[in-house]
Parts: sequence; structure tokens; C-alpha cells
Amino acid sequence: MDKVVELVRHDVIAVVTINNPPVNALSAAARRGILESLNVAIAAPEVRAIVLTCGGRTFVAGADITEFGKPPQSPGLNELLAAVENSPKPIVAAIHGNALGGGLELALVCHFRVAVEDAKFGFPEVKLGILPGAGGTQRLPRAVGPELAVKMIAGGEPISAAEALKGGLIDEIVQGPASGAEAFARKVLAEKRPLRKLRDDDSKLASARADRSIFTNAVAAMTKKSRGLQAPFAAAHAVSYAIDLPFDEGLKREGDDCMKLLVGDQSKAQRYAFFAERTAQKIPDVPAEIPLRPVKKVGILGAGTMGGGIAMNFASAGIPVTIVEIKQEALDRGLQVIKSNYDRTAARGKLTPEQVDQRMGLLTGSLDMNDFRSCDLVIEAVFERMDVKKGVFEKLDIICKPGAILATNTSALNIDDIASVTKRPQDVIGLHFFSPANIMKLLEVIRAEHTAKDVIATSMKLAKQIGKVPVLAGVCPGFIGNRMLSKRERQANEMVLEGAMLSEVDRALYDFGFPMGPFQMNDLAGLDIGWVKEESRSSTLIELLCEVGRFGQKTGAGYYDYDDKRSPKPSPVTEKLIDELIGKSGKKKRQISNDEVLERCIYSMINEGAKILEEGKAIRASDIDVVWVNGYGWPVYRGGPMYYADQIGLANVLAKIKEFHVSLGDDFKPAALLEKLVAHGKKFADFEQSPR
Ligand code: 3HC
Ligand code: NAI
Repeated sequence: MDKVVELVRHDVIAVVTINNPPVNALSAAARRGILESLNVAIAAPEVRAIVLTCGGRTFVAGADITEFGKPPQSPGLNELLAAVENSPKPIVAAIHGNALGGGLELALVCHFRVAVEDAKFGFPEVKLGILPGAGGTQRLPRAVGPELAVKMIAGGEPISAAEALKGGLIDEIVQGPASGAEAFARKVLAEKRPLRKLRDDDSKLASARADRSIFTNAVAAMTKKSRGLQAPFAAAHAVSYAIDLPFDEGLKREGDDCMKLLVGDQSKAQRYAFFAERTAQKIPDVPAEIPLRPVKKVGILGAGTMGGGIAMNFASAGIPVTIVEIKQEALDRGLQVIKSNYDRTAARGKLTPEQVDQRMGLLTGSLDMNDFRSCDLVIEAVFERMDVKKGVFEKLDIICKPGAILATNTSALNIDDIASVTKRPQDVIGLHFFSPANIMKLLEVIRAEHTAKDVIATSMKLAKQIGKVPVLAGVCPGFIGNRMLSKRERQANEMVLEGAMLSEVDRALYDFGFPMGPFQMNDLAGLDIGWVKEESRSSTLIELLCEVGRFGQKTGAGYYDYDDKRSPKPSPVTEKLIDELIGKSGKKKRQISNDEVLERCIYSMINEGAKILEEGKAIRASDIDVVWVNGYGWPVYRGGPMYYADQIGLANVLAKIKEFHVSLGDDFKPAALLEKLVAHGKKFADFEQSPR
């Protein structure tokens, strides 16, 4: 027997335990091991029931994604699942951690399922660009009804054990997974319960056969959220097979649809993004086993837009936070905004009032920085001015305990300069959250010149703990994301001054897959960020707009005019300002094609990404992709800008950049690294280094 699966017998109960760390994925060895153990248990006359359980931190979290796209190995997942389902002896799945994807499919072929209270159940396949391919779309609707099934399968989000019990996905919530399942198995034997095979149970499908609205509603609900993605729509469609077709036919159609998606470009890109996110955690010169600094209490300086959102992340993760402001008024306002945010979440049913109270109870407001004394990490989120930041760090250096991590949320200032005013630059790091900080997934972790390795490792780990996706970057203007964004913005603006309409530029990027184009995005963020009235020289479009009080959505007018539903309309005022600027430049307006808009916006970013890599400000190209997918709405089914460039072919990208260099000047000076990679026939994916 394979050692990834263990079989023991407790009198009449055989316990099959999968031990395939880290997440008990159903690799070929695991599939083989389970099948062999089952065969032994089924053949043993003294065994009357079987418990299927997992060691380690979770039940099976899915098929082994690393096997996708490789030659299939025997036994296949369907073969294993059929053997479980057809076992003449009852099999009880004992679930802890996550039962996801192929793991949930495995649980669904068991005759009974029990789980511990904090277990989660889901089909995240759509996030990998596929759909459950081993019966999930056919058995889940039979277990919980098509309405919840379509929501889980097309949405990809897991449900809790309580929801699973209510929906009929599990039979019981137990204390310990294996012991609970064993007790349950004895009950099944004592009560002589029949083996329940979901494939044969159509009782929950009847109402959906009469009323198709669950599908139309489900598809309508996801249309906006899943724009451009193929898998969620295919997944919803596959659930309808359960209703319309006999089980075996539905199973076959599901498998075929899954296979089509698996070999498609979207799934390849989405699987790349999955692994890229995990690879970003790995820092070549920071050992994985480095001891971390304990972070049990956090301090936040500044309760403004960012400070409040940052504080929420920690409170939501159960970590106490002390928030310090300069004025009582600002502190009260900041805490009130946090409370309103939590209340809104509670109103949507996602938090109970008790949870809101518990989170608010973890927040302590103060006007005295000395209250940071006991904090293990302090994050500064005060005004973006070097003199203010330096003053604050001098004080933190005096107040904070030895070993405390001192972080800044600066978006543009030099962190080495900030660190230089302390006697402990090794403890200083950048933690660049994105707005709204309680929602946006991305966290750029900025390694300054002297930042200690354990400070980096602790920050990366902590980021995950508070639900963020961290990426390590080096100190440079704009770090990774904003540095590349500024190049895109510049091209977008230039094209408008050459004759493109704002809406043409925005539409091109929206159709590419971004949630909105650059001008709409700026209207949302506020055009006055960084604008100083006294210094405004009417020389750029943004200055002209700010000078006439058009600050974006918040003033009802920016690049576009906005109605009370916040939908953008072309603005004659903006068009006049653009015409004036074009007039002053003496240029003639010209038609700009959709392709040119895309190439100039995206290739300028790719070229800058290459410069970021060559300067060592990012470890690897995939880290840049993680930044763009999680922080800027790059469509995940296109992997990220660097992956996209690799798909187009770096030689093609470079040729176009060279063309633009000739026609548009040094904005398109090709990155040396891009030229080098092309000369060696390599891809961005081939490049990796240590960042500085
Ligand atoms: N296959 C292969 N490797 C996997 C894996 C999988 N299904 N799931 C996770 N891993 C690997 C990760 O790549 C990572 O490897 P690394 O340490 O070398 O970087 C390691 O396991 C740990 O993963 P995480 O860092 O993500 O661990 P967390 O504890 O944060 O999260 C998890 C655990 C929630 C299970 C998360 O890993 C996850 O969401 N995994 C993917 C689940 C999934 O998508 N399942 C469906 C797979 S497709 C399928 O089953 C098809 C079927 O329908 C036929
Ligand atoms: P904000 O103006 O909303 O909040 C700053 C807060 O800091 C104010 O409430 C102010 O009273 C307080 N403050 C100022 N000096 C202080 C001091 N010495 N002690 C205690 N409190 C003090 O500013 P915002 O937008 O929250 O920005 C904060 C930092 O985050 C800046 O460095 C900014 O560049 C950065 N940032 C901002 C983003 C954004 O989208 N707003 C995104 C990412 C980073």
C-alpha cells in the first residue's frame, strides 16, 4: 500500500486516512492509495463500515493542479469516485479544514458526510478557469438543490459547516472529524440505514424542472462580476444538465465541458495566476524557516482614509489595534467610519451584531503615541509629506519597544530616507495598502535598504493572516503598481491630446477586461489627489479640470459629468479644455485605432515592468502580474501584463515598442532586459533574482 494513505481497523470500522501534505490534493499516489485501501477494507469480512478522513490541516482541497495538462495517470479520479460510490459497505467522509473541488467530489460520493464546525465546502474550480469535472455539478444539486448548487459552483465561494448542514450537504456536525465519523458510522450500522447514493436521488431537482428561473437569476447575478470569464457561465450551464439529463449523460457532458475549458487560454492564465500568488510568498534570500517576530498587538498612526481601513483588517483577524490621531475630532470620525463600514457589512448579513461589537472592541483610540509602547507593529498612515513622516518616525524610534516593526504606508516617499531618522532601520519596512484598504487584496511589502529578513518574512506572513495578497517590492518611485500605472496614464493622456476621445480610451481598456478605463478610474479616485491649487499652472488637462473644481465623481464632474446614479456622460466642458490644449500644442487631431490605444497603454506598462525587473525592484515577472491582478483589476484570464507579453511573444512586443520609440520618443525607450531576453530567445517567466 502507498504510504500517502493509511488503513487501520477499529473493530468493525476501517479508517482510511489520506496524508498528502500540504493540502491532501488527490495526486496519482493519493488516488492509488485510497483505492487500494478501499479494496482491502471492502474485502475484509470483519469490516462493516469505512471512514474516509485526512491527516494534517485539511480534508482533500482538490485534484492536484500540478497534474493538469500532463499525461493522465491511473487510476483516474472518476474511477476512484465510482469505486467509493459503489462500495457495498457504508463510507462516511470525515471533514475538517476544506473540502474543495475534487475533495468535495470525493465527499459527495461517500454515502454520508460529517464535519467539524469550522470546516468549509466549495467548488473553487471557476477560479482556475474550469468547472468541477468529476460529477460535482451533477451530485451537488442532488444534495443541496440546484439553487444553492449553482451559486456555489458558478460563484466559487465556499460555504460553512452550518450552511452545509442546513442545505443537506452534510449529515452532522461533530467534535473531532475521525472520531465523530466513527461514531456516526456505528449509528448507521445500528440503524441499518440504506446507503445513500446521490446519483440516484433526484428528489431535490423536481421544483427546478418546473421553474428555470434559478438559472436565469443566477446567470444575471454573475454577469457583471464575471464579465469576460468563460468558466462561471459554463459552470451554471453544467448544473442545468443535472436537471435536464439522466445522471450518466450529465456526468459525461460535464467532463467534456471541463476538458474544453482546461485546454483553453483562460484556464491556463488563471492557473498561472493561482501559482503566481503562491510563488510571490517565496523570497530567495529569506529562508522559509526563519523565526518570525510575534505580532499580537498593532498600532496605527492616522485614522484617515487609509489608517481606518488598515485597522479594520487587523480587527477583523482578531488582532487588537491602537489607533492614534492628532485631534479628538479626527479620531472620532475615523472610528465612526470603521463602525459604519462594519454595520453595512452586518446589514448585508455577512456579520452578526455581536461580531461587529467584538471587532470594535478590539480597537482602542488614543491621542498619545506613547500608547504604542506595547505594540509589536506600528503602521504609519499620516499625511504624505516627508517632514511629517520623518517627525513621526523619530518619535516611534523613541517610543516603540525593541524589535517592534515600524511600517509606513507611504505611496511615493523614499522609505530609506524615512528609515534613516531612526536608530533601527532594520526594523523599518513599507506596507503599501490599496484603497479601500479593508477591501483591496493587494499589499505591496517594500523592502528598504536595511530591512531585516525576519521583518520581511513576518510582514509577508501577517499579510496572509489578514487576508491580503502580499508582493515584495524594492524602493523606487511608485513601487511596482503605481510606477507602471503612471506610464499607462501618460499614454492615455497623450492620446487624448492627439485626438482620441476619453471614452474611446476607456472603452478599449474596459473591453480588454479592466473594470473601468483610466479616466473613469481617476474620476473615482479623485483628480485632486496630489494637486496643489497654488502650484497649478494650467498646463495639463488634470490641472485645468481641478482649477474649475472638477475633482471627479465626488463633485459630480471630472473628466466626465456624472448624474446621481454616478454614470459617466461626455462633458462639453472637458472637451473644450482638451481642444484648447490641442490648439496650444499646434498638433492636428487624428483618429486613433483601438489597437493603438491598447498597445500604447499596455506595452508602456510592460516596458516599465521590464525596467522594474532589471533594476531588481521585483523578484520575478509573476510578482508584477500578481500586483496587477489583485490591485488594479487586470483581467485574471489574461494572467497579468508580463504573462500577457510572454504569450504575445517578447520579440513582437519589442518590435512594437521600437516602432513607438521612433514615432513617440523616449517614453518608449526599450528596457535593456527586454532586449536581452529577446536576444536570448527567453521569456519574462525565465527571469528571477533577489530584489533590492
Ligand atoms: N493542487 C496542488 N497543489 C496545491 C493545491 C492543489 N489543489 N492546492 C494548494 N496547493 C499547494 C499550493 O500551491 C501551495 O504550494 P507551495 O507551498 O509550494 O507554494 C501549498 O499547496 C499551500 O497552499 P496555500 O499557500 O494556498 O495554503 P493555504 O493554507 O493558504 O490555503 C487552500 C489552502 C484553501 C486549500 C488553498 O491552497 C486553495 O484554495 N487551494 C486550491 C483549491 C482548489 O482550487 N481546488 C480545486 C482544484 S481543481 C479540481 O479539484 C478539479 C476537480 O473538479 C476534478
Ligand atoms: P488622510 O488625509 O485621509 O489621513 C491622514 C490622517 O493622518 C488624518 O486623519 C490626520 O489627522 C492624521 N495625521 C496627520 N499627522 C498625524 C500625526 N502626526 N499623528 C497622528 N495622526 C496624524 O490620508 P490617507 O489618504 O489616509 O493617506 C495616508 C497615507 O497613506 C499617505 O502616506 C498616503 O500617501 C498613503 N496612501 C494613500 C492611499 C489613498 O488612496 N488614499 C493609497 C495608498 C497609500
